[in-house]
Amino acid sequence: DLDVADLDLAALVRTIPDYPKPGVMFRDITTLIANPAGLRAAVDGLVWPFLDARVSLVAGIEARGFILGGAVAHELGRGFVPIRKKGRLPAKTIGQDYALEYGVDTIEVHADAIRPGDRVLVVDDLIATGGTAEAAIDLVRRSGGEVVAAAFIIDLPDLGGADRLRAKGVAVRTLIS
Ligand code: PRP
Ligand code: ADE
Repeated sequence: DLDVADLDLAALVRTIPDYPKPGVMFRDITTLIANPAGLRAAVDGLVWPFLDARVSLVAGIEARGFILGGAVAHELGRGFVPIRKKGRLPAKTIGQDYALEYGVDTIEVHADAIRPGDRVLVVDDLIATGGTAEAAIDLVRRSGGEVVAAAFIIDLPDLGGADRLRAKGVAVRTLIS
């Protein structure tokens, strides 16, 4: 009963200039996910391409990828695996470094969370340079999993992230450019 058919998803994203630093146009999804039809349309858009894709689990990237990835996993009837910033997961982990604008960061996944043969859908809110998603994909592959696709609400195409993932052989699904 939520009317999502003609919803303008992009209009629900709030843009904050100069956050977190000068020159960045921050695309804030909190306004989109606070809107019931917006949340429904976003999750549906991330789910329906993969209904018949034999996804065995969904991996979400901290922090905004947790919100969407959890809903996507629930809709697909699959489990959810968190990919977290370094030092936050309690059991044995594997880590992957990735480049930030200044320096490097590390994301981690539990070493036993993804099994050889798993078919993994990677979910986050936004892809910019693709560095974060590429590191997540590397973690899935190092765990023996196969990346079915990476799915995001927002693509910032000028930053080239989606092309970067496609160059690694990953299917990319985005809802807004
Ligand atoms: C944002 C966003 C993606 C990443 C995209 O997360 O949610 O995870 O940046 O950037 P990239 O494609 O250039 O790697 P952020 O690092 O701000 O972390 P947060 O979700 O914990 O705030
Ligand atoms: N992550 C990287 N670039 C971003 C942006 N412009 N808005 C929101 N999250 C981001």
